[in-house]
Amino acid sequence: MSKYYITTPIYYINDVPHIGHAYTTIAADVLARSHRAKGDDVFFLTGTDEHGVKIAEAAKKAGKEPREFVDGLVPVFKNAWKKLNISHSEYFRTTNPDHEKIVQEIVEKLVAKDLVLKKKYEGLYCIGCEKYWKLEDLIDGKCPDHKTVPVKQSEENYFFKLSQFGDQILAKIKSGELEIGPDSRKNEVIGKINQGLEDISISRSGVEWGIKFPGDESQTIYVWVDALLNYYTATKIFKKEDFWPANLHLMAKDILWFHAIIWPAMLLALDLPLPKKVFAHGFFTVGNQKMSKTLGNVLDPIALSDKYGADAVRYAVLREFPFGEDGDISEEKIAARYTELANNIGNLVQRTLSMINRYELDQKIKAKSQTDDSDLKIDQLLDDLKFNEALTEIMKLAESANKYIAEKEPWVLAKEGKTEELERVLQKSYDNISNIADLIAPFMPETSEKIKAQLKSLEPEVLFPRLEEKILNSKS
Ligand code: MSP
Repeated sequence: MSKYYITTPIYYINDVPHIGHAYTTIAADVLARSHRAKGDDVFFLTGTDEHGVKIAEAAKKAGKEPREFVDGLVPVFKNAWKKLNISHSEYFRTTNPDHEKIVQEIVEKLVAKDLVLKKKYEGLYCIGCEKYWKLEDLIDGKCPDHKTVPVKQSEENYFFKLSQFGDQILAKIKSGELEIGPDSRKNEVIGKINQGLEDISISRSGVEWGIKFPGDESQTIYVWVDALLNYYTATKIFKKEDFWPANLHLMAKDILWFHAIIWPAMLLALDLPLPKKVFAHGFFTVGNQKMSKTLGNVLDPIALSDKYGADAVRYAVLREFPFGEDGDISEEKIAARYTELANNIGNLVQRTLSMINRYELDQKIKAKSQTDDSDLKIDQLLDDLKFNEALTEIMKLAESANKYIAEKEPWVLAKEGKTEELERVLQKSYDNISNIADLIAPFMPETSEKIKAQLKSLEPEVLFPRLEEKILNSKS
């Protein structure tokens, strides 16, 4: 049994979770479930990033103290993950006092190692990103991600000597010790390191909502240092020390820089092993536009799972476009995927079990007898994080299982009294369903369980009932 430690980013808790957060979390959950099914000892971590200006400002806007504000939102995140059947081992909060203490100890260590220096800094800070931008990287003077004008800031801060670690990180990437995916992103990271790394500020003055900088009460630890360390402090807090290093940090491309460069540098500075793999998936738009409150196109994972069920949402987001690429999602697309599941898997189960009952074969049908190698193929695709290909394969199996029934026409066999052949055809269909139920388990755990229960009882029940013709966000 091997250990498998997988993480999602810890999401900013300035607002309720949206479908973008759900996307990464669902993907991580599929991997966690598939590793558990293989018998691995899995530690699956998600949580929230609760410090910094962004959160403090959101709290202020809501007329609340930061602590009260974040405490109020944590249950919303937890509820979203519950609705989506996310099987995380622990939920991490950066306001956990144990985390705060370990982070301070770690910063003290960096100081003791002479890897921290104090200097005056002037830069353009984007609160949305919680980071400084270089002028040349802005588009029309605006942050390319948030489309807002960064604030000019001039502070005396503590700096981490990131510039010393470029070669070491490069060597680890090139040797494959630190895997970065997909390849296109890995090349971007290598390119950035080759341009030379600058030291980075790891403290902020004038930001009260954060962990105090050890030895200097006037500064707080930069929120990204606090946040990245969660992956490591969690292993201490939850007594999972032997799970370090993580097998996989999942995130979108927006924060790859922090995970592929700053985080490894911090770990190297602390003489800690590096994560085995960092993978940045794409960013998606909703209805071909960036998700935004102003546009009113923010998709709520809780409302979507209430309406379509967790499995249809899980299926839709992972099936829609390749994991490493950008794509588009919308409620209409989720609704169409729901119908696809109903027509394909739902229909297959319904008609097969109904015929077994109708032709009184319930005593003859045996629990799964066939084995095939489709699970090996799916395992490989999951190892390569090719979720949409894996789901395409599974749906192809369901399609051919439906086609098999259409071709064999069991109803004709029954009419003609060809009992043996009828029994063989329905046994094969039963086995096909059983195989599909196994394969979909990490993606659609609830449906998988329901199918397995129906296979046992031979009582068909509708898996994906007809939807009311109503789209959640529609203005009408
Ligand atoms: N708090 C930091 C992460 C710290 S991790 C040590 C942060 N939080 S965030 O709330 O902004 O979450 C960003 C992440 O949410 C992305 O990297 C991605 O995992 C997910 N996504 C948010 N919007 C998304 C899309 N529109 N599309 C795909 N993923 C999305 O950054």
